[in-house]
Amino acid sequence: MTDSRQPQQPDRNLALELVRATEAAAMAAGRWMGRAQKEEGDGAAVGAMRAVLNTVEMDGVVIIGEGEKDEAPMLANGERVGTGHPPEVDIAVDPVEGTTLLAEGRHGAVAVISAAPRGTLYDPGPIMYMEKWVVGPDATGVVDLDAPVGDNLRAIAKAKGKDANDLLVMTLDRPRHDDLVRDCRAAGARLRLISHGDVAAALLASVPESNVDVMIGIGGTPEGVLTACGLQATGGELLGRLWPRDEDERRHAEELGFDTTEILDTNRLCNSSDAFVAVTGITDGDLLAGVSYTPGGAITESMVMRGKSGTVRWIKAHHNLDKVMEYSAVEYG
Ligand code: FBP
Repeated sequence: MTDSRQPQQPDRNLALELVRATEAAAMAAGRWMGRAQKEEGDGAAVGAMRAVLNTVEMDGVVIIGEGEKDEAPMLANGERVGTGHPPEVDIAVDPVEGTTLLAEGRHGAVAVISAAPRGTLYDPGPIMYMEKWVVGPDATGVVDLDAPVGDNLRAIAKAKGKDANDLLVMTLDRPRHDDLVRDCRAAGARLRLISHGDVAAALLASVPESNVDVMIGIGGTPEGVLTACGLQATGGELLGRLWPRDEDERRHAEELGFDTTEILDTNRLCNSSDAFVAVTGITDGDLLAGVSYTPGGAITESMVMRGKSGTVRWIKAHHNLDKVMEYSAVEYG
């Protein structure tokens, strides 16, 4: 029997460099925890992240960033990041995923970034929301977006060798989810309602370390793309569909060429297994511990993922901010 594999030397894992950017964002933003100043917290994260990103050897274009250039001075859609040398990558970034969580000092704010080969990330344009079902690798291929919620939950439970009433479903606590919540309860599933942060919730559903079985609901489309990049490594699945808020938004989306009936799966949102993702906790959460500040330093916890190899690392870093501040252009305050 011939071996058709083409062995390669171990190559670069860009995520191990990107994590320095999410750590920097988290340490800068963490100072704003509970201070009710959303923009300041976000601004600190953006500035720190951008300074580190521009040291990373890559030619990055921000596909999903802080918004359009005129509203977002930095990490705006279309902005180039990195040194400008290959590899050519698309960047999706959310320096503070859960700005309200950070401002109100609540659980679950993270800093997140992903990079994937140029042209492979889905650009949602102005379409802010999408439906999402996210499961881990032990329940792929069983969700049907057009099936009743209870049928999907029973199919997920069966794939996982559980009963539906053993399932833990995570969803954003929103009035638009009233029917969803009712249907989950009717199926017997347990529920975790969160106020914000569906990227961390989706990643939780995709890793064996957590007891969350599925993340369901309507959340941000950019967050869906970031999630899909992570799923390329964890091996779970996202199934979704754009969710225009009203008829005007649907018409506008269609005029722009979006098919609002299309099923958007993991590969449609991130069309490469060669995706890299780094996430660092800002405030304590189920996925990651938040930043803790120590005398002269800080401790961060991050998740670092690479699609090609499927490696998922949890990295706890002890930062000596006294030393770093002797030369760093970034203010960790
Ligand atoms: P921000 O950090 O941009 O505030 O996003 C937080 C978030 O909760 C996302 O995790 C989620 O996808 C989206 O907002 C939900 O939107 P909305 O709060 O409008 O329902």
